[in-house]
Amino acid sequence: MKNILIIGSAGQIGSELTPELRKRYGNSKVVAGIHKTKPPRELFESGPVERVDVTDKEQLFPVIKKYKIDTIYNLAALLSVVGEANPLEAWHVGMNGLLNVLEVSREYRCAVFTPSSIGAFGLSTPLDNTPQDTIQRPQTMYGVTKVAGELLSDYYFKRFDVDTRSVRYPGIISNVTPPGGGTTDYAVEIFYAAVKEKKFTCPISSKTFLDMMYMPDALEAAIQLMEVDPSRLKHRNSFNVTAMSFCPEMIAAEIRRHIPDFEMNYKIDPIKQSIAESWPNKMDDSCAREEWNWNPKYDLPMMAEDMLRVIKKKCQGGK
Ligand code: SER
Repeated sequence: MKNILIIGSAGQIGSELTPELRKRYGNSKVVAGIHKTKPPRELFESGPVERVDVTDKEQLFPVIKKYKIDTIYNLAALLSVVGEANPLEAWHVGMNGLLNVLEVSREYRCAVFTPSSIGAFGLSTPLDNTPQDTIQRPQTMYGVTKVAGELLSDYYFKRFDVDTRSVRYPGIISNVTPPGGGTTDYAVEIFYAAVKEKKFTCPISSKTFLDMMYMPDALEAAIQLMEVDPSRLKHRNSFNVTAMSFCPEMIAAEIRRHIPDFEMNYKIDPIKQSIAESWPNKMDDSCAREEWNWNPKYDLPMMAEDMLRVIKKKCQGGK
């Protein structure tokens, strides 16, 4: 029986992964680990919550022991743009945090999921149909921690038999908790702006392509990978996964199908633009498809329709 700890339960992914895992495995089986962010009330009401600063071993180890945790979803990280503003903090959370998670998992035999990212690639990577195994020389601290994290996780698997698994997430589009300072955030912000003001100023240039994914597929990827029979896995840290690839003018056109007078202007943010240009236009995720049946459900039109429906409802509800 699984006993799960989610580190970063109040974040963009954690706030949706926690209820999903509680639904599947039972409320008492899924411990929500929170740190700085104020968690939504539902997290407390639906199951156990513990304060876990991933960089603090003294907090982490007792929680693992108390709940007999056997699976950890380690979602603590600073995203790419915030990471460039605080590179040492990005390293501290990404690397020292991961090391604590791997060490506790070595001692208590936990399986570990730690997301990697499209940020693990850089300009010397082939940016079209980016292969699973290729050059990884990122230019951001976020990317540096993701590549190093992939290597460290593979090391703990080979050297200490810790069951580490990971996916390279693209930009994740969601409507519960906003992302915290990434390059792909525009693809979330555009929907709120479209519903509230019918216009959006885009920080990324009109023809810059990036991989993206809608949250339900992102949750499915994490859960499905952690459940697959390990004998099927040739790779572990980390799998390319994508669901759609688009540029700003494509997402604007899609929104216009629902809000015809939606206006898009551009004010390029040089940091975000240069990061976006160094990331894949479209990854090849065939290894994930072969090794654990990865098969996303949402394409651009389906995602856009659902985002607009949910955000309109949220805005009408005064939230
Ligand atoms: N969404 C992340 C970012 O933009 C990429 O993984 O930083």
